[in-house]
Amino acid sequence: MNQISLLRDKHILLGVTGSIACYKAIDLASKLTQAGALVDVILTQSAQQFVTPLAFQAVTGRQAYTDLWGTDAHVIHIGLGESADLFVIAPCTADTMAKLAHGRADNLLTITALAARCPLLIAPAMDGGMWAHAATQANVKTLAARNVTIAGPAEGRMASGLKGKGRLVEPAELMGHVRLMLAQANPLAGKHVVVTAGGTQEAIDPVRFISNHSSGKQGVALAQAALDAGATVTLITGPTAAARSTPVGATRVAITSTLDLEQATLAACQTADVLIMAAAVADYRAAAPADQKIKRAQMSDLSVQLVENPDITIAVANQKKQLGNPLLTIGFAAESQNLLENAQRKLKKKSLDLIVGNDITAKDAGFFVDTNRVVLVAKDGSIERLPLQSKVAVSEAVIDWISNQFSG
Ligand code: CTP
Repeated sequence: MNQISLLRDKHILLGVTGSIACYKAIDLASKLTQAGALVDVILTQSAQQFVTPLAFQAVTGRQAYTDLWGTDAHVIHIGLGESADLFVIAPCTADTMAKLAHGRADNLLTITALAARCPLLIAPAMDGGMWAHAATQANVKTLAARNVTIAGPAEGRMASGLKGKGRLVEPAELMGHVRLMLAQANPLAGKHVVVTAGGTQEAIDPVRFISNHSSGKQGVALAQAALDAGATVTLITGPTAAARSTPVGATRVAITSTLDLEQATLAACQTADVLIMAAAVADYRAAAPADQKIKRAQMSDLSVQLVENPDITIAVANQKKQLGNPLLTIGFAAESQNLLENAQRKLKKKSLDLIVGNDITAKDAGFFVDTNRVVLVAKDGSIERLPLQSKVAVSEAVIDWISNQFSG
């Protein structure tokens, strides 16, 4: 389920309160709208000191509401509250937090918050001292006990020039929180999915290593798709760039070598329902990595002796015989020839339930690019060839396959 389908036609109520961070709420409203949501915005009077309703109307294409209620004043708050799938207040000031904690209703935003029955996400923004104050912290506790999700605040430079904890969480990260909250009732809710992503690195000396071209993009997209399907996700990643961007809600375990990856994967799989092995694992490692940098003078005709790494999927299958988990294991096969035969052979050898095969010789698929053309080969012998599509769409197809296994 991609960002568009998760958010499409969802009613998001966005409350905006008076903080210099208000300008970021326009970006958030825009991102939500672009992802297909219907975004109704309510601005407090103080928010209007920083931004205008017109700015929100321009990005959402819908009316933005203020305390200047019209003749239909008595129904606005009920209507907005009733229709919302999610209420987001970003930025949320200390004052609005206090009002929410005590059930006050002195403006359209707080009245609507009392009337709404949907989940509430707030993103506080205030000076560090205000956030740390005992009164604010007591309000945070009250709201958290009422199942309000509190995103942030983040640490960093604040409008006062001081550094501290009080910054509004960035809109891209808030989108992650919105997705998490909307996904809660989706098909993989209650399931633990472990995803491995990116290439491993095998040290030759403290400076050099053996690795591969894997960017980790496919694995990160799989982790996001699993989160969107409602799963609890552990993302085990090698040190590649894309693998560093952990989707909001995933627990990231950073690894470097294949032996690290094996250990982390076996540990995570003890409680996993699903393992998706998207990592590009180095099959060999240096037999004896040098403790010190190998100097050029030593290097003429240098040869490095390699020893074979363990096959992690096989280690997982052996552990499963004792523990019963994971229920499903999905592997990847990046091939430069005989894609189908190799995929079918690996499916059997590694005791996989599904293997996702892709031809790495194609320019528009595999390494470096955002698209992939894969074939899904399942344990029951079924073969499904998917068209060239984004790695995000490929991930959704894999997650749909997994969801179907649990629903059937
Ligand atoms: N894999 C693994 N442990 C390894 C190597 C690979 O768990 N030591 C996993 C990969 O994460 C992937 C699948 O096995 O899901 C297939 O990986 P691939 O590199 O294509 O297969 P290999 O077993 O290395 O086979 P070959 O080198 O013959 O292609």
